[in-house]
Amino acid sequence: MRTARRLSIVAMGALLGLGLVGTAQASTSVSPQTREDTLSAMHGEAFAYASYNAYAQEAARTGIDALAKLFRKTAHTERYDHFAAEARLIHFVRGNADNLRTSIAGETREATVIYPYFAYQAEQDRCEPAAKLFRELAADEAVHAKRFRRALYAITHPHSGVVVPVGEYFRPKPIFASLPACRGRTRENLLATIRGEAFANASYTSYAEKARQTGQPRLARLWENTASQELGEHFAEAAELYGLVRDNKANLLKSMKGELHEATVMYPTYAQRAEQAGDDEAADLFFEIAVDEAHHACDFLLASLEIVVPSTPSDHAGMRS
Ligand SMILES: [Fe+2]
Ligand SMILES: [Fe+2]
Ligand SMILES: [Fe+2]
Ligand SMILES: [Fe+2]
Repeated sequence: MRTARRLSIVAMGALLGLGLVGTAQASTSVSPQTREDTLSAMHGEAFAYASYNAYAQEAARTGIDALAKLFRKTAHTERYDHFAAEARLIHFVRGNADNLRTSIAGETREATVIYPYFAYQAEQDRCEPAAKLFRELAADEAVHAKRFRRALYAITHPHSGVVVPVGEYFRPKPIFASLPACRGRTRENLLATIRGEAFANASYTSYAEKARQTGQPRLARLWENTASQELGEHFAEAAELYGLVRDNKANLLKSMKGELHEATVMYPTYAQRAEQAGDDEAADLFFEIAVDEAHHACDFLLASLEIVVPSTPSDHAGMRS
């Protein structure tokens, strides 16, 4: 009954366009399945944030400012409402040293296993631009791991004289509409790359907030600068080879499909599993986010109709923003 009631609330919320996320409190602990589902959802949210900002660039470039605004606004919700609430739920951000240890492990794996393997695979698939990019990413991730190791030493040995490195800020590269440059496994690997880079960006910007709150401004800058490279360079370059951005209509349709899946399948499934595991706060959060995703799907549907049949001659003025 409870589940049926919640689902009807989701349906009503979708109709009314309610956005309720941000009200759920963090629980002390959740079941392993709920944690796994939450991490999976966070990957989706981080990827949506990065993708929608890329789609916003295409909308702005083609002069549809209202659509650019809609993509940017939705991107903000994915990152600063959904991702942030899910991160709080599972205490994703821990102490500075633990955040560094987690990131060192991830960067080292990318530098020594994942990207070298992707480069090898791209050579097998005869996609040299991807092979070159994966080799460059492996080298960059090795630098990230090295800086994080030094930062960890500096904060755990405060009297050593070692200072936290800050790295350098990367101005975001523009992402242009493109067709896929590679086929087969390499195309799948490029998708895994952009999802991973988007997640790294969202994670590191979250870690930066923690570092700043705990009086570590140099560490905050290191996280922010590294995050700027993950998104502004790594995500951008892999996205172009993957063919992430197409024309506005295709970008909208793909986004609407993703939102519908999240609203009607993914989040309701996660919510039901969380409820069965006794993770009520997680279940509430997932149901609330499902409502938001239904709202996003509606917004994108309206926006795509505006592109096909503009309601007024003036620059898609009827589009929600
Ligand atoms: Fe979302
Ligand atoms: Fe990295
Ligand atoms: Fe990266
Ligand atoms: Fe969404």
